[in-house]
Amino acid sequence: MKITVSVIKADIGSIGGHICPSNNLLRAVRTFIAERGRPLLVDHYVSYTGDDVAIVATHSYGVNNEQIHKLCWDAFMAGTAVAKSQGLYGAGQDLLKDSFSGNVRGMGPAVAEMEFDERPNEPFLFFAADKTDPGAYNFPLYLAFADPMNTPGLMLSPSMTAGFKFVIMDVGHTEGDRVIELNAPEDLYSIATLLRDPERYVVESIWSRSSGEQAAAVSTSRLHNIAGKYTGKDDPVMLVRVQKDFPATGEILAPFSIGPFVAGAMRGSHQMPLMPVPLNSGISYFDGPPVVSCAAFAMHNGNMTEAVDAFAHPFWQTVREDVSRKAMDMRRQGFFGAAMLPMSELEYTGIVDKLTELDQRFTVRRTDSQASRPSAKAQTG
Ligand code: 13P
Ligand code: 13P
Ligand code: MG
Ligand code: MG
Repeated sequence: MKITVSVIKADIGSIGGHICPSNNLLRAVRTFIAERGRPLLVDHYVSYTGDDVAIVATHSYGVNNEQIHKLCWDAFMAGTAVAKSQGLYGAGQDLLKDSFSGNVRGMGPAVAEMEFDERPNEPFLFFAADKTDPGAYNFPLYLAFADPMNTPGLMLSPSMTAGFKFVIMDVGHTEGDRVIELNAPEDLYSIATLLRDPERYVVESIWSRSSGEQAAAVSTSRLHNIAGKYTGKDDPVMLVRVQKDFPATGEILAPFSIGPFVAGAMRGSHQMPLMPVPLNSGISYFDGPPVVSCAAFAMHNGNMTEAVDAFAHPFWQTVREDVSRKAMDMRRQGFFGAAMLPMSELEYTGIVDKLTELDQRFTVRRTDSQASRPSAKAQTG
C-alpha cells in the first residue's frame, strides 16, 4: 500500500517568551486536525518540541498535496487564534503569509514528507528540533548513513553495503531549490566538504542505493529567506525510516549522544550543543540549549501505533548532563569568537546598523614613518 507521511510544523505562539505552546493552543490544533482531518487522513499525531507544534499525518494523497497542507495551515490558524486570545508570545510567528496559496512550502511552516510503499512492518522515527536550524541534522545523518564506525549495518547488512544517496540542498540559493546528489561511499569526501558548512548545505533527503527507497526527509526551509528578516530560527523536523534496508533505530539515535554544537539558542545567533530531550519538552537555559526530540512509530496501512519516546530511556540522562556542561562552558565565552555565529548568520539588523555607524567613524592613521619617509626617487637620487 502506498502511503504518505507528512510532518508540518510551526511556531504559532508560546508561553513565557519562546518556551512552549499552551495546553489550550495544543488542544485547538489537535481538535481541528481530529475533526476536519477525518475525511482526509488515515491517522495523525500532534506534539510539541520547545515552542514548535508538529502535526504528523498519514494519508494517501502524496507529498505537497494542497488539501493536506491547507488542513495543517488552517489548524495552525485555529491555534494562532487561541494564542492571540491568551496573549502568547509570537502568536502566529511562523505563518508568514496572510492567506494560504496551494502549498505551505515557502509560507513559514517546516515540512518533511515521504511517500512510499509501506513494508509489511514499517518502523519510522519522527524528529523535531527547536532553537536550531536544518543543518543540525547534517552531522547525525552523515554518521548514521555514511560511517561504519557509527553504523555497523553498512558492513553487516547485505542490503546496506551499496550505501546511500544524499540529496543536499544549497539553502543560500533563494531563487529556487538548488540541489546536488552524491553517493556514499564513493563521494564521501565531497559529502563531507558540503556538510561541514551546515548553514549553507543541508541534507534534504537520503535514499537506499540497493532498493531505491527513500530513507529520510528533512525540512530545509530558511525563514529569513522567506521573510527577508529574522523571524525566529528555522527549527527543523525530520522523518527517518529504519531497519531492513535502512540503518537500525539505534544506529540513527547513536550520533545524538555526541551533543554536537549547532547554530541557534538565544536569538538564533549562537553555537550551542544539541540536547536530546523527551517528547513534549520546552526549552529553558539561554533560550536553549537547542533541543531534539524523537518519536518512534510502527505503522500498518497508515495506522500508527502510539508514539514511543526514543530519548526517554535512562541512557540519555547522562547525555543531557554532558550537554548541559558543554552548554555552560560555551556560555562562559559570552559573545566572543566561536560562541556566536558569524555575521552572515546574525539575523538581527541591530548589529548591522551599529557596524555601519562605527564604520563611518573609522579613520586610517598616517603613521609617522609614512609622513617622514623620503620618496623612493629622493632615496635613489
Ligand atoms: P533483533 O535481532 O532484536 O531484531 O535486532 C536486530 C537489530 O537490528 C539490532 O540492531
Ligand atoms: P524560536 O525560533 O524557537 O521562536 O526562537 C526564537 C528566539 O529568538 C529565541 O531566542
Ligand atoms: Mg518562538
Ligand atoms: Mg521554535
